Amino acid sequence: MPNRRHLISLDDLDDDDLSWIVRRGAWYASGGHAEPLRDDIVALLFRNTSTRTRTAFSAGALRLGARLITYGPDDLQLNTGETTGDTAAVLSRMVDVLVVRSANGEEVREYATSSRMGVVNAMSAAEHPTQALADLTTMSRHFGAVDGLRVLYVGEGNNTASALCLGLTRFPGTELHLRTPPGYGVAPSFVERAELLAKASDARIEQRHDMDDLPEVDVVYTTRWQTTGTTKPTADWRVRFAPFQVNQAVMDRCPAAVFMHDLPAHRGEEVTAEVLDGPASIAFDQAENKFHSGRSVLEWCSGRTGGKDLDPCLTR
Ligand code: CP
Repeated sequence: MPNRRHLISLDDLDDDDLSWIVRRGAWYASGGHAEPLRDDIVALLFRNTSTRTRTAFSAGALRLGARLITYGPDDLQLNTGETTGDTAAVLSRMVDVLVVRSANGEEVREYATSSRMGVVNAMSAAEHPTQALADLTTMSRHFGAVDGLRVLYVGEGNNTASALCLGLTRFPGTELHLRTPPGYGVAPSFVERAELLAKASDARIEQRHDMDDLPEVDVVYTTRWQTTGTTKPTADWRVRFAPFQVNQAVMDRCPAAVFMHDLPAHRGEEVTAEVLDGPASIAFDQAENKFHSGRSVLEWCSGRTGGKDLDPCLTR
């Protein structure tokens, strides 16, 4: 039986694994085809809504040759009081890879106790690791490499931003400029960890709570203001967020940049339609890359990569 692996946080990946997943995702995106999961069963448990991630992992599993089981939020005996530990013990005897979306990150990690079943964090309140992998794949495809890219992240310091902090700072020479509303920044634990990662790879990360003196960047990135499964602790949050809308005036201050958004979007809130639907936007390519990098993540978690030394651009 292959040794299944878990992707709960990007911090779980060493540099070789991170690089392999991004390069393998780019290979799938360029038309590469393989069915390494043809003997495997992939299960999806989504306790929150999803369009892109759920479809990417469902379609991705099928394209890799796996068979699929999907559970919605009301399907398992978890709802009648069975523990997560017992559920994990049962599923791991029948399923090869489990993809879980739950606001509760501890619950997601609790599924990842056995090497019989690989577990993918498909988004918790704290971190959205598979989004960052899709984002890195998008940057790699668009610019030819991630190394040296300069990214301006504007908006809430949410789970997508946390994952981007842990992912981008692993690539040499990158810069991540976070501009987040006061009181809604990326959690200090993620920033501090990313600062250590950045130091090791000659990268840079900084967080500010204003929109003054925007740096020269290659990418402007935002996410919607109302993150799935979360609520805002202050009543005046819209007032705090308003200066952080990405509109044409912001893009004009970053004339060489492309625009990225993890979607879903609320046009008129975090981004204007002019920007999201404009010539600089690669947001829908980014959405497609969730499918390509999702296949790469499933393959890695299944343990069917043939070893980390195998060239990710080889067919199996
Ligand atoms: N970006 C993202 O995770 O989209 P979904 O919530 O639709 O999966």
